[in-house]
Amino acid sequence: MGEFSEPAGHWQTIAVRGGRSVDLSTGAVTAPIHLSTTFERDATGEYPRGYVYGRLDNPNRQTLENHLAQLEGGAGAIAFSSGAAAAMAVLQTLSPGDQVLIAQDAYHGNHQILQRVGEPWGLEMVMVDATDVEAIAQKITSKTALIWLETPSNPRLQITDLAAVATLAKFHNIQTLCDNTWATPALQNPIKLGIHWVLHSTTKYLGGHGDITGGAVVGAIADEKFARLREIQQTAGAIPSPFDCWLLSRSLQTLPVRMAAHCDHAMAVAKFLEDHSAIAQVHYPGLPSHPGHAIAAKQMKQFGGMISAEVRGSRQTAMDIVGRCKLLTRATSLGSTESLIEHRASIEGPDTKTPETLLRISIGLEHPDDLIADLNQALNSLQINL
Ligand SMILES: Cc1ncc(COP(=O)(O)O)c(C=O)c1O
Repeated sequence: MGEFSEPAGHWQTIAVRGGRSVDLSTGAVTAPIHLSTTFERDATGEYPRGYVYGRLDNPNRQTLENHLAQLEGGAGAIAFSSGAAAAMAVLQTLSPGDQVLIAQDAYHGNHQILQRVGEPWGLEMVMVDATDVEAIAQKITSKTALIWLETPSNPRLQITDLAAVATLAKFHNIQTLCDNTWATPALQNPIKLGIHWVLHSTTKYLGGHGDITGGAVVGAIADEKFARLREIQQTAGAIPSPFDCWLLSRSLQTLPVRMAAHCDHAMAVAKFLEDHSAIAQVHYPGLPSHPGHAIAAKQMKQFGGMISAEVRGSRQTAMDIVGRCKLLTRATSLGSTESLIEHRASIEGPDTKTPETLLRISIGLEHPDDLIADLNQALNSLQINL
C-alpha cells in the first residue's frame, strides 16, 4: 500500500478531511468499518484492490495512517495496537549492541520497555537530561543509534529544543524520535524541526475520549528504516482493529478544537495553582516561570493540556488532595474529555524518580472555573495541616 502525505489546505482542514473520501461503492460520507479479515484475488491470482489479509492492511487502517502522516507532515505513518507496541516496534528496527539515549524525564513505560525488553535483547539504554543539548552531545558514542525525546515530558513537562537536537543528531548520523503524545500535531510538528520519527500513544489526545488503546509512528522519510518498521508491523502483527482505526479517524477530525480548549483550560488552571499557597511548584510550559518556556513558545503553538504540581507537605498530603477532589476523576492516563488527577509516583512503582508530592493533572473539556473550584476546595481543606 502506498505511503503518502499531500498537505491539502490549512491544518484544520487536513484534520477534518485528511485521509478520507466518500465510499465509492455506497456513497456513504462517513466511512464504513471493514471487518473482513481477507480480501478477494482475481482470476489471475492478483489483488487488484490492493488488500490481501487483515494483518497486512485494512482500509480503515490505511485511512488512519494516511491521515496521521498528513497531520504530522511525514512521508508515512504506521499504526499499532498501543503506544507501547509502537515504541517496541521502533526498538526492533535497531540491532543488538546499539545504544539508545533517552530523556530521563520521559514516560516511565518507555524506560521500562528499553530496560526490561530492549536490554535483555542487547540494546543499551542511557538516560540523559534532554533539556540540555550539551549533555546529550557528551553522551553520544559510536554505538549511539537513536536519541529518544519527549517534549513536553512526562511527568515534569520538561522541554527539549527539538531543532537543536535534530541538528546535533544529523551531524553524528544518528536517528531521532520524539514522543509527541502530549503535544499532538495540533501544537508541535517535530518532523518540521528535523526529527526522524514521531511516536504517539493514540490512546491519549488523538483518540481523545478515553475509549481507544492505540499507537502510531510517523516517519519523516520513506527510507529503509521506514520499510523495516512496516515489515515489523505486518509480520509481528501488533496491529489496531478496524473499529479502533475508525474511531481514531473520527476523533482526529475534532483534534484542533479539542486541543485549543485543553490548552486554554490548562493555562487557567496552571495560573490558579501557581498562586495557591498549598502548591510548591507548578510544571506547565505556558507559565513564564517555567525554565523551558522560551523554547516551548518557539516550537509549540500552545502549551498543552497537561500540568503537574508539587504540593507542600508529604506524599500523604498529595494523596489527601487527590482524595478530596470531587469533579476531577482519580485515574491515570490523559487526553480525554474528562479531567483526571493522579498521584504520579505511586502509579510508576518502586523505581520511580518522580517526587512523592507530585500530582499529575490531565485537564479536560469541562469549564475551567469548575475545575479550579474543585481543586481550590481540595487544597483549602488541607491548609490547616500545612
Ligand atoms: C507519553 C506517552 N508515550 C507512550 C505511552 C504508552 O502508550 P499506551 O499506553 O497506549 O501503550 C504513554 C502512556 O501513558 C504516554 O503517556
